[in-house]
Amino acid sequence: MPKVLVTGGLGFIGSNFVRRALSARPSWTIVDLDKRTYAGNPANVADLPRSRHRWIKGDICDPKTVDKAMRGCELVVHFAAETHVDRSIHDASAFLRTNVVGTQVLLDAALRLGVRRFLHVSTDEVYGSVPKGFSREGDRLEPNSPYAASKAASDLLVRSYFVTHKAPVLTTRASNNYGPYQYPEKALPLMITNFMEDKPFPMYGDGRQVRDWLHAADHARAILTVLEKGALGEVYNIGGSYTCQNRELIERVLKLMGKPRSLVVPVEDRKGHDRRYALDCGKLLKLGFKHEYDFDKGLRETIAWYRDNERWWRPLKKAGGYRSYYKTQYKGRRPQGVV
Ligand code: NAD
Ligand code: DAU
Repeated sequence: MPKVLVTGGLGFIGSNFVRRALSARPSWTIVDLDKRTYAGNPANVADLPRSRHRWIKGDICDPKTVDKAMRGCELVVHFAAETHVDRSIHDASAFLRTNVVGTQVLLDAALRLGVRRFLHVSTDEVYGSVPKGFSREGDRLEPNSPYAASKAASDLLVRSYFVTHKAPVLTTRASNNYGPYQYPEKALPLMITNFMEDKPFPMYGDGRQVRDWLHAADHARAILTVLEKGALGEVYNIGGSYTCQNRELIERVLKLMGKPRSLVVPVEDRKGHDRRYALDCGKLLKLGFKHEYDFDKGLRETIAWYRDNERWWRPLKKAGGYRSYYKTQYKGRRPQGVV
């Protein structure tokens, strides 16, 4: 009965991973260490069997809590992080604390407690903007936002624990995830839920930024592949099955939802906005991974999920914290022209 520690399992990707792992690995039990920040939501895991999934409310920066949660676990999958680029532009402090110090606390505990494999979940944003070609795992890290810089720092820390302490670590770097349970501050769920309410979606800058879209269920399957088959000390890119400009994504969503283009309002660009991300996933494919989701199916299902689960997202958008975040977010961000 392998016992597995997942950090950040109440979040978007973490909860998708826990759900997938419990069904794909019937012998696993999962301890889920999550602080329940604004992005951590017990409703994301409410349907999971308590006998195999136990949530401990706690901070990954607290060594005592981490020791208690990790004791007896042979595998660790580390998702917990501050994740929203725009928030990191307003205030980077929580990003440095959780993403860097939290990762260090977990790595120290993993060494102390003799964890067999520790997978650190990271992002393609650590490579920075890639005007052409594809980022490979050995490429230089050139993070441009405070969020990306904090993730790059955590990646380097993981690497150093492998070199210095022979820690049994693996790192994955994934592209933009989409799917159910994504907090409605990120572009796709914000767009879908705003369109459902006939509210505008603020398109940053010219909308020609390129993102690569990975379904969270495929991300979960890729993490299982790397966790079980990856070589210790290595980094694996996890890309999606579809790449497009934000403009194209918006057009697709408008069409699928039958909404007018007038709901798209171009606004001032995000500071330091990365123009393009693109991953070379050759290393992952060599481990035998294949995507299950094509983007068209994934996008239709995702829109349907938000349609069917208003009771999940409406309270999140009504909460005081969400509203005050949006006030700060759009203060001084003027509408610019038409789409
Ligand atoms: P999320 O913001 O939806 O969830 C983060 C979770 O971490 C929340 O449940 C939150 O409560 C928890 N958390 C935050 N600080 C914590 C702390 N100090 N102690 C314990 N728990 C804490 O994030 P997500 O989008 O699901 O991302 C998960 C991971 O995947 C992150 O490491 C992120 O960098 C990475 N990633 C995300 C994407 C994406 O598109 N969302 C893409 C690539 C990589
Ligand atoms: O690439 C992986 C990363 O993807 C993860 O590491 C991050 O945690 C995750 O938040 C995501 O970062 P992005 O900045 O790419 O995602 P976001 O959903 O914030 O934005 C996607 C694109 O849409 C980006 O080019 C900015 C743009 N955008 C975003 C918002 C929120 C808009 O045009 N308007 C918006 O209101």
